[in-house]
Amino acid sequence: MSGAPLAMKHADKLRRMVAGYPGPIRFATDLPGVKKQRGPRVLSVTSGKGGVGKSSVVVNLALALANEGERVLVLDADVGLGNIGILLGLRPTFTLDDVFDGTRRLGEIIVTGPGGIRIVPAGSGGQRGPGLGQRERLLLMDELDNLDEEFDVLIIDTESGISENVTYFNVAAQEIMVVLSPEPTSLADVYALIKVLTTRHGEKSFRILVNMVKDSDEGLDMFKKLSQVVSRFLDVSLDYFGCIVRDDRLIDAVRRQRAVVELHPRSPAASCFAKLARTLKSSPTPQPVKGNIQFLFRRYFEETHSMRYA
Ligand SMILES: Nc1ncnc2c1ncn2[C@@H]1O[C@H](COP(=O)(O)OP(=O)(O)O)[C@@H](O)[C@H]1O
Ligand SMILES: [Mg+2]
Repeated sequence: MSGAPLAMKHADKLRRMVAGYPGPIRFATDLPGVKKQRGPRVLSVTSGKGGVGKSSVVVNLALALANEGERVLVLDADVGLGNIGILLGLRPTFTLDDVFDGTRRLGEIIVTGPGGIRIVPAGSGGQRGPGLGQRERLLLMDELDNLDEEFDVLIIDTESGISENVTYFNVAAQEIMVVLSPEPTSLADVYALIKVLTTRHGEKSFRILVNMVKDSDEGLDMFKKLSQVVSRFLDVSLDYFGCIVRDDRLIDAVRRQRAVVELHPRSPAASCFAKLARTLKSSPTPQPVKGNIQFLFRRYFEETHSMRYA
């Protein structure tokens, strides 16, 4: 595997940086010759600015995928402002703060939402402040790897803005879905986010979803506008994953703390989410290891590894 030496070097560097970390640290990238991914698909949902509908997309895409038979885990990585629980009317007893404090294991804080989707509730940041330190990041990765439950898809709801937390989760994810809205400011924010992710972190591929559109023409039009400016200045590839229409039924669902896919399954927005779930399922998964540390559940690699080398 040509990328392996670089990835291993990166793992060593991280290991040195977290010398004080108590748990066992092993990385998927440590395993030689492993090419096939059998673990969950890891998708981050991100947008630059807030209010474009990231969390709504995460919740409803998760449920639409569950309706297609996928086992879905949602990670609310919006530290401090996490609202997946609020959107679904859930009141989790524990959050990621308890995992970082060392009082709970990840498996103990996960709650169940509609359609059986499983959710990791965001912490408030507490005394640590909003950002996750290197220790928290590795602990989270280790806890995900050690979960007893199996998942087909992990969807990560990121914070707004371009903080280090946002870039971290996007780089750690296998695929990045950027949510755009028809507002001109959204185009500028998304461009800025893609620029940072490619120039500073080497990300080359982005899935684009346009939310709150009038109709599918408006979605395609926004995608074309973004493609034009991106292709002029950046060397990245954009894949159009479609659009979600602006729908009062979604606003009603938010008010009632339910997912629109569940509350109004025949609404236009719910159909868009069902279509998005099918698009995602039928699109190929990118290369599992991009050469950096990723949220891929190590266990699956070990299984693949032992099958290949047994
Ligand atoms: N497709 C849509 N149609 C109508 N309203 C929407 C749609 N998507 C999002 N909204 C509205 O935008 C608000 C903010 O969405 P949210 O998912 O919290 O955004 P973000 O997570 O990006 O900050 C929602 O509470 C909802 O009222
Ligand atoms: Mg949000």
